[in-house]
Amino acid sequence: MAEKLMHALQYESYGGGAAALKHVQVPVPSPKANEVLLKLEATSLNPVDWKIQKGMIRPFLPRKFPCIPATDVAGEVLEVGSGVKNFKAGDKVVSVLSHLTGGGLAEYAVASEKLTVKRPQEVGPAEAAALPVAGLTALQALTNPAGLKLDGTGKQANILVTAASGGVGHYAVQLAKLGNAHVTATCGARNIDFVKSLGADEVLDYKTPEGAALKSPSGKKYDSVIHCANGIPFSTFEPNLSENGKVIDITPGPSAMWTFAVKKITMSKKQLVPLLLIPKAENLEFMVNLVKEGKVKTVIDSKHPLSKAEDAWAKSIDGHATGKIIIEP
Ligand SMILES: NC(=O)c1ccc[n+]([C@@H]2O[C@H](COP(=O)([O-])OP(=O)(O)OC[C@H]3O[C@@H](n4cnc5c(N)ncnc54)[C@H](OP(=O)(O)O)[C@@H]3O)[C@@H](O)[C@H]2O)c1
Repeated sequence: MAEKLMHALQYESYGGGAAALKHVQVPVPSPKANEVLLKLEATSLNPVDWKIQKGMIRPFLPRKFPCIPATDVAGEVLEVGSGVKNFKAGDKVVSVLSHLTGGGLAEYAVASEKLTVKRPQEVGPAEAAALPVAGLTALQALTNPAGLKLDGTGKQANILVTAASGGVGHYAVQLAKLGNAHVTATCGARNIDFVKSLGADEVLDYKTPEGAALKSPSGKKYDSVIHCANGIPFSTFEPNLSENGKVIDITPGPSAMWTFAVKKITMSKKQLVPLLLIPKAENLEFMVNLVKEGKVKTVIDSKHPLSKAEDAWAKSIDGHATGKIIIEP
């Protein structure tokens, strides 16, 4: 019997940006024992998707060419592998695909049962597909290194969120407010009202001298910084940190890694903590429930059809999204 084919976008080598994404017809993947086959309803992009294409994580990723990129998906279960216990055909779900395999820029994808959770009907497919990498990174940064209790029972902390208008930042501001924090945030001038509407107590335009200095207008010293922007040296954060303040850097480059080592070795009270997301289903379920309960919202920058997914890719590379970029079939 002829294999069933699907529409997908893939790239065949490092580099080339949006122009190197090719529309292809490839076989619909088959789920392994612990996987579910999804008919995709929405996929969201993250900067790591194009960073992998650019070769920034070589030789580890992508594992092979051609590569169908993107990992954050919402869809309907069509088929389950022989070992799958918690899902059946017809379930609406949200999943994080492995960066080793990707697969999100397609009509169908296979997802591990372990990184799949049910999507309640109150949470739309685009709102759900936006959550995995961006939402879980914000959650991990705020709860683990920053130590916030998101039920608001902890002591009030002063938090700075850089690039608060982006995918990770817009969730970080909302989660920090659930954790009873005082939130200072940075973004561009056009997004100041937007970031305030997410709950930020004070907002700095990163293109002004005050914004570039990261100084809290009310004189707060930050207990934690959720650092989602690029290229700000530790020396800019340091005078603005509280005695035991931490910069949780989600985009650590070589100089941040050096600072991390030096601060550790010298047992400095002020620390830089590089953070790498470890996706967990329980955390994804927690985020989905917050959206269901209306406690956190996904803000969508733009939606693009799969037939024009290269436009979404170019927009993500451009680096000026407000919220999340979504692709729909
Ligand atoms: N370590 C991990 O596991 C992990 C996980 C997720 C993401 N990340 C990384 O974290 C970074 C952020 O991801 P994202 O999905 O949030 O990106 P994004 O959605 O593409 O961020 C875009 C936003 O950042 C704003 N921005 C850019 N530079 C800024 C600056 N210097 N100050 C303030 N705002 C600035 C832009 O505002 P304007 O348009 O006004 O410039 C835009 O609204 C990326 O580098 C990503 O690869 C790492």
